[in-house]
Order: sequence, then C-alpha cells, then structure tokens
Amino acid sequence: MSQSTADNAALAHEQQTDRNLALELVRVTEAAALAASRWMGLGKKNEADGAAVEAMRKAFDAVAIEGTVVIGEGEMDEAPMLYIGEKVGRGGPAMDIAVDPLEGTTLTAKGGPNAITVIALAERGNFLHAPDIYMQKIAIGAGLPAGVVDIDDPPAKNLRNLARAKRCDIADLVACILDRPRHEELIAKTREAGARIMLISDGDVAGVIATTHPDSGVDVYMGSGGAPEGVLAAAALRCVGGQMQGRLLFEDDSQRERARQMGVSDPNRVFSVTDMARGEVMFAATGVTAGAMLRGVRRFGNGATTHSVVMRSKSGTVRYIEAHHNYATKFWAAH
Ligand code: FBP
Repeated sequence: MSQSTADNAALAHEQQTDRNLALELVRVTEAAALAASRWMGLGKKNEADGAAVEAMRKAFDAVAIEGTVVIGEGEMDEAPMLYIGEKVGRGGPAMDIAVDPLEGTTLTAKGGPNAITVIALAERGNFLHAPDIYMQKIAIGAGLPAGVVDIDDPPAKNLRNLARAKRCDIADLVACILDRPRHEELIAKTREAGARIMLISDGDVAGVIATTHPDSGVDVYMGSGGAPEGVLAAAALRCVGGQMQGRLLFEDDSQRERARQMGVSDPNRVFSVTDMARGEVMFAATGVTAGAMLRGVRRFGNGATTHSVVMRSKSGTVRYIEAHHNYATKFWAAH
C-alpha cells in the first residue's frame, strides 16, 4: 500500500470513528431523557435528575471511549455518579466529557419547556474546568462581526451594535434572560434600551443555543447562570457558530480557590467560545420536555419517541434524530 493510500485509509477510519461516536453519544442522551421523562410534571426534581444521571451513567458503558468527566454532577464526595474525575466508557480514545444529565430539573418537575439532556465531548484537555458557580454570559448567533457585543459593555451599547449588525431596529431584537431577582437591573436596562425580552424560568443552555436558531426568535442571551452550563453551551456554539463570552462570578474566596485548583489562573478572565471548548468538539442533546429546538419525549403503550440533536465542530453538521424506542426489546428504557 502506498503512503497516500495508507493516509487516506487512516483518515477514512478516523472520520468513521468520529461519526460513530457522535451517534453513540445520542444514545446516551436519549437514555437519560427517556428516564427523566417519567418524572415530568410530578414535582420531584431530584428524582427526575437521579433517573437521568443513572441512565446516562449506564449508557456510557457502551461508548467506545476512555472518558473522563470534567463537567459533571459535582465532586466525588457529593455525587455518586458522573462526578468530576470519574472514568466512563468501555475503552477507546482518551476524551474529556462534559455532561448535564438533566438541564432543567425544575422545568421537568413542572412540565415546563426546554428541559434537555446534554453531553459534550472533546479530546483531553480541551474543556474549561468550570467550578459549579455562576458565570456571567453574553451570546449571539453566527454570521455577525467578531466583537459586535462585549460582556463589559452596557446592555444599551450591545443592543445598539447588534441591531446595527443585524440591520434592524433595537425594537426588533429579543433578549433571552433568566427570570431572577439578580437580573432586575439588566432587565430594566434592556427594556429601557427598547429591546424585547424573553424571560425564561430555567435552562440557559437552551437559551444560549436559541441565539443560533433564526426560528427561535432570540437574538441575544444575557445574564448569569451556571458556569458548567456555560461550558456546555460554548461546546454547542463551537459546532454551529456564534459568539459567547463568559466570566466566572465568585461569591467568596473559597470559590476563587476552587477555580484556581481547577486550573483557572486569572479569576477575572473573560472566556470566549474557544477558551471554553477547544479542539474538535461533539455535542449531543435530547429533549425531555418540548422546547424551541427539540421536541420532548413522547411516551405510548410500549415505547416512546425521542428528538435529539448531534453536532460536530469538525464537519459543522447539525443532525436532528427522531428515534422510536420499543420497550419490549429495550430492557433499560422500561425502568
Ligand atoms: P436546574 O438545576 O433546575 O437544572 O436548573 C438549571 C439552570 O436553570 C441552568 O440552566 C442555569 O444555568 C442555572 O440553573 C441558573 O441557576 P439559578 O437557578 O441558581 O439561577
């Protein structure tokens, strides 16, 4: 075999492995969504979360990677499964994994929109190791000039620049913001600037991703939410384009120390999408409850349907997958 034939064969093998892996990830988010969906609207967010975590953890056993959880359910002493540092997978390439087995536990417990199960995967060392604290975030979709919004600029300036870049009026823009007392001033300033607002009760991974979907009607995401969720959202943006900036928000010195131990040397640093998710990234999510991007799990007699998205930064392909699950042949899903 000539060198170039061997190189082509190796490349084809690598591409095939990547593609297979992307589909394996969807199986994992599907398993978590199926399990969590049993708890929809039952007012039990911990049970919903627990079911998603357990199903996701089990499903990872079939994935051909040597994975290390870097964004997960917490520290080893506080989370029984999918804790930071836990090894998952049945063996294969060394990968870092960021998970949120149920992004929107309260949404699920209330049957609200946009609860999803999420995984992002990259080669070792490529995700920001974000502690479970708040992160200030601003995000916009693809195709806009770099730096059109800046985390340090006031909302009015960002909205003015965004409207100019999108060739519309500020009044045409919609900002997605978590409905929290801490955002009172941000909400007031956004309204004062003349933009419209979509207040969400939870689920800012979906909120950030919505900026990349013209159909969602969301132009910009602003405000603070979980830092781990920020890294997951950045992983999605790496695949579909879009800009995001994040800055860790510390409440005390112990949080600063925790971040330092996790490798954050400058606590005031503004992280871009690629600072949070470098290299080649894969992202998969499955809807638990119905949302703008994904339909929720629909259950029937002996099975269910799931709706997922899987994306790869390498190819930029965004693939939506509707799966029909038959419980008669799927032992794990029925439980
Ligand atoms: P759950 O813990 O109910 O899954 O909530 C998730 C979430 O809404 C994230 O999307 C968001 O980043 C974070 O919580 C916001 O935290 P807080 O509720 O403390 O404002």
